[in-house]
Amino acid sequence: MNTPPPIDTSQAHSARIWNYWLGGKDNYPADREAGDRIVAVLPEIVDIAVATRAVLVRMVTHLVREAGIDQFLDIGTGLPTANNTHEVAQREDPAARVVYVDNDPLVLTHARALLTGTPEGATDYIHADLRDPDTILDRAARTLDLKRPVAITLFGVLPFVGDDAEAKRIIDHLMGELPAGSHLAIVHSTSAVTGEAMEEAVRRWNEAGSAVYHLRTPERIRALFDGLEPVEPGVVSCPLWRPDPVEVGRAREMDEFCGMARKG
Ligand SMILES: C[S@@+](CC[C@H](N)C(=O)[O-])C[C@H]1O[C@@H](n2cnc3c(N)ncnc32)[C@H](O)[C@@H]1O
Repeated sequence: MNTPPPIDTSQAHSARIWNYWLGGKDNYPADREAGDRIVAVLPEIVDIAVATRAVLVRMVTHLVREAGIDQFLDIGTGLPTANNTHEVAQREDPAARVVYVDNDPLVLTHARALLTGTPEGATDYIHADLRDPDTILDRAARTLDLKRPVAITLFGVLPFVGDDAEAKRIIDHLMGELPAGSHLAIVHSTSAVTGEAMEEAVRRWNEAGSAVYHLRTPERIRALFDGLEPVEPGVVSCPLWRPDPVEVGRAREMDEFCGMARKG
């Protein structure tokens, strides 16, 4: 792993704000202040953060159980928290192999917590940018067999690539190198449900000095899967994506959408 650069805790930081909303300990007063300014306009952001983690669990579980996937490339990992991708995948299949990728030096300093998988499986962490798919694939190939199906998870990271053509080029590049049976899973913010409240929350998030965050409509998120076979139920609000049986009928829409597709 690379040597982490020094960390400035006097400035709010997006990963730590997210960690604060998830009830984590890796945050500082500047992060909590910025987080609270956003909660003031969009109180449900905390529920959104929790729902995002819950859908990660359902998606990764589905990928292992139903799609037979045992290799994951998780790009835009975030700070370790409960139910990290390798924990969920290795609960289902202890031999699952997971490679994490993030471009944030802060995540790099916490990456050791992501490298504690089962003895049968494997985990690795790559400090790299989503915009550099060749480096990601080269380094992932040390841990994953790229001739066998892989699931790429882009959870909360595509809002940092605001241009649709660029986002699609990155996705096509990554999926293009993987065999049939590989999957793509995306979680992405919208303002389709709360409108102006979400747009104001994102303005405040961007003011906090974080990397610029862009919303997409559900239609624009759907278009990112073009060329792949959609997995039911398609692109929907996260709580509506294959809810646990006890949640059926109670799940309500929120401004975090997700979808999954398979390479044919
Ligand atoms: C909102 S967090 C999502 C964390 C986690 N995947 C989740 O869903 O809870 C987005 C993560 O993407 C990372 N990120 C943003 N732009 C990136 C890029 N260009 N390349 C790699 N990672 C990036 C950020 O550092 C952050 O850790």
